[in-house]
Amino acid sequence: MVTTLAVVVNRTGAPDVVEIAEVDVAPPADGEVTIEVRAAGVNPVDVKQFGPGTSPTFPLRLGREVAGVVTAVGDGASGPLGAISVGDEVVAYPVVGGYARAVTVAATSVFPKPRGLSFEQAANLMLVGVTAWHLLEATGVAAGDRVLVHGASGGVGLAVSQLGLLRGAEVVGTASEANQQLLRDHGVTPVVYGSGLADRVRAAAPDGVDAALDTVGTDEAIDVSLELVSDRDRIATIAAFRRGAKEGIRMLGGGPGADPGREIRTAARSELVRLADAGKLDVIVARAFPLTEAAAALELVASGHPGGQVALVP
Ligand SMILES: NC(=O)c1ccc[n+]([C@@H]2O[C@H](COP(=O)([O-])OP(=O)(O)OC[C@H]3O[C@@H](n4cnc5c(N)ncnc54)[C@H](OP(=O)(O)O)[C@@H]3O)[C@@H](O)[C@H]2O)c1
Repeated sequence: MVTTLAVVVNRTGAPDVVEIAEVDVAPPADGEVTIEVRAAGVNPVDVKQFGPGTSPTFPLRLGREVAGVVTAVGDGASGPLGAISVGDEVVAYPVVGGYARAVTVAATSVFPKPRGLSFEQAANLMLVGVTAWHLLEATGVAAGDRVLVHGASGGVGLAVSQLGLLRGAEVVGTASEANQQLLRDHGVTPVVYGSGLADRVRAAAPDGVDAALDTVGTDEAIDVSLELVSDRDRIATIAAFRRGAKEGIRMLGGGPGADPGREIRTAARSELVRLADAGKLDVIVARAFPLTEAAAALELVASGHPGGQVALVP
C-alpha cells in the first residue's frame, strides 16, 4: 500500500487540534481514480465538522474538494463529462480526505480542470458553486430579478452573485467596507453590512428587491431580507437554520430541516466546470497555505473574513 501525508483529526476542538499524519492511499478500485493533489479547497464546513459540541467519527479526514493530476485509473472509471486518463488535470468534488498529497476518489466526482483556473482556484470552484446554484434554483432567480446577496464578498456569495448576473439578474451585495470594490469589479452593486442596512439597500435598489439570498446567517441578514422581500419562498439561507425555520423561509444544505438539494447540486457541477472553462466564472483565492499549515488555513476560514477563498498546497 502506498502512503501519503494528510491532515487527520482525532478530537473535537479549535483548528489547532488537526494533525499531519502518514495515511494509506488505496489503489483505485473499479470506478475510482487516484489524484495527486495540487491544491485542496478549505471551507467553513471543514472547521465546523469537528468543532466543540460535534460528535464526528474519528479519525476524521478533512477536505471535500481538490484539484490535481490523475495518477491511476481503475477499471470502468469515467467522469460525468467523459473518460479520465492518467496525466489529466482534474477537479474533484465531492471527495473525502482531500487535505492530502494524494487521494483515491469515485470517478463520478472527477471533472476536467477548467482552463484558465489555477489549481488553487479550481480546488475552490465546486463546493461554493453548487451551493450558489442551489440558492438560485430554490428561489427561482431569473432575468430581470433584483437580488440581494448577503455576504457577496464570500466564497458562496461571490459565486451566487456571478451566477445570478449570468442569469440576467441585477445583484445588490453586502460586504465589509474593504470589499466594496471587489463587488463593483464583479458587476455587483455594493452595500456595507451593519446598522442601517435596509435603508442602504433601498437606496441602492429604489424599485425594491425580488429575492434575498443569505450566506451569512446573522439576524441582521434575515431581518433585512424579511423587511424587503414579501414572498418568503424567495428568501433563502444557507446558514441561519434556527431563524430560518421560525420565519418559514427556504433553508438549504446540511442544516437541520434544510433541503439538501442533492440532484440540483450534483447536476450543477458540470455547468460550473463549463462556465469556468469559458472564463465566465471567477474564483478569488485570498491565500494558499502549505498542507503542513492546515491549522492556520482553517483559522483564517473560521475568522469569517478570509477575503476570498483559501487553498492548501501539498
Ligand atoms: N448550507 C450549505 O449548503 C452551505 C454550503 C457552503 C457554505 N455554507 C455556510 O455558508 C457560510 C458562508 O460560507 P463561505 O464559504 O461563503 O464563507 P466566507 O468565504 O468566509 O464568506 C463569509 C462572508 O460573510 C461576510 N460576513 C462576515 N461577517 C459578517 C457580518 N457580521 N455581517 C455580514 N456579513 C458578514 C463576509 O464579508 P467580509 O469578508 O466582506 O466581511 C463574507 O462575505 C458559512 O457559514 C458556511 O458554513 C453553507
